[in-house]
Amino acid sequence: MHAWAIVLAAGSGTRLASAGLATAKQFIEHRGAPLYWRSARTFASVARVRGLVFVFPQDRLEAERERLTALDAGRALGVPWRAVAGGALRQDSVAAGLAALPRECDAVLVHDAARPFATAALSNAVLDALAAGAPGVVPGVAVTDTIKQTEHGLVTHTPDRSGLVAVQTPQGFALTPLRQAHERAHAEGWTVTDDAALLERCGLPVHMVAGEAANAKITTPEDLAMLDDDTARDPWDARKGQARLIPCTGWGYDVHRYARQEDTGRPARPMKLGGVPIPGGPEVVAHSDGDVLLHALTDALLGCVGGGDIGQHFPDTNAALDNANSAVLLDEVLRLTRAAGLEITNVDLTIIAQVPRLAPWREQIRRNICRLLALDETMVNVKATTEEKLGFTGEKKGLKAVAAVTGLRPVRAGRPGDSSNGGDAGDAGGTGPTGSA
Ligand code: CTP
Ligand code: MG
Repeated sequence: MHAWAIVLAAGSGTRLASAGLATAKQFIEHRGAPLYWRSARTFASVARVRGLVFVFPQDRLEAERERLTALDAGRALGVPWRAVAGGALRQDSVAAGLAALPRECDAVLVHDAARPFATAALSNAVLDALAAGAPGVVPGVAVTDTIKQTEHGLVTHTPDRSGLVAVQTPQGFALTPLRQAHERAHAEGWTVTDDAALLERCGLPVHMVAGEAANAKITTPEDLAMLDDDTARDPWDARKGQARLIPCTGWGYDVHRYARQEDTGRPARPMKLGGVPIPGGPEVVAHSDGDVLLHALTDALLGCVGGGDIGQHFPDTNAALDNANSAVLLDEVLRLTRAAGLEITNVDLTIIAQVPRLAPWREQIRRNICRLLALDETMVNVKATTEEKLGFTGEKKGLKAVAAVTGLRPVRAGRPGDSSNGGDAGDAGGTGPTGSA
């Protein structure tokens, strides 16, 4: 199957014009791009869709072609696209789109740009049915309202609701029968509101797949609220400078050596973990206070916001950081992550040490981390383990800690590598030596 998608954006949106819109609905600015861009991105993410044909009103064709070129340069669709002028009726616009398909194309998805919420999953369901041999496929959802036929304000008929479905787009077609149906419609003057109706008139089977409740068509002024309510985490948000939230994970790892007799020149610190003094624990060699757990945690927090690592922020060559309280360093990084808008949702910490036994301290450490991060008790977990006498922790030469922080953070759309691309905290780090505090 060689499938393309046609994105219909050539209507005039007369039912919406009463809302006083200066533009037809498919051109409404939504997340920094015209509404039709949302559908384009969705199709571009469907592996089996090889290319896109946009259909615009004749008088906007050049302007939209330019806009598409700019959008595509910003966040490449990754598939070829063409733009053509539509006609007076929707079916004329579809015919224009069909005429612009490449020769090798043998299947097509026809979609209303006025349905921005259609998903890649729905497109795939339609393509699956096409691949299984259906000449035409429509997404349908059962109607929940009772439907009545009326004339001059009087009800004339109530069809049985159980057999009724509301159909959506994208509708999928094998190209040859759809082209033939359009030719016949043209020759015989049929007027229809969707392409499936043409196949039906030609006596060809149209299959139904489950539509999506959220795949509504923006038609009336009331429908515009759906765009405001659209909180889906759209990975192709084209807004510049406006935030949307994405989940993020940061990972941290740190090691400190236990002080030995012969370590005279190096500063040995009384053991502290998560800001909690561990009396009787081996002394730890460190420039700062040597809190391995807070160092791993600090690195994990930096990881959540693309903030580099602890050594960049607090180089161990900085004399001012001699015996620095790691909780204070953590606080500075928290200021950074807060400025970047990070909302921590979970913290999971593991201390790996053969000695001392940490179980008695675990709960106190956990509570102190909750306090330092201002997090609810349920959001922080602290674990301790040995490495079964293996390796440097097993030989009691030192200890290590790993930290995983998960959260939500705003990201600003832009091109990868673009300095405005979310890494709000990214330039806060120096470029100094990267030895850890
Ligand atoms: N469409 C089109 N060419 C037309 C008419 C409609 O490409 N001559 C497109 C619309 O842009 C829309 C889709 O077909 O994406 C569905 O049509 P509809 O919801 O009816 O949109 P409009 O025709 O623009 O709105 P209205 O009927 O209220 O004027
Ligand atoms: Mg219309």
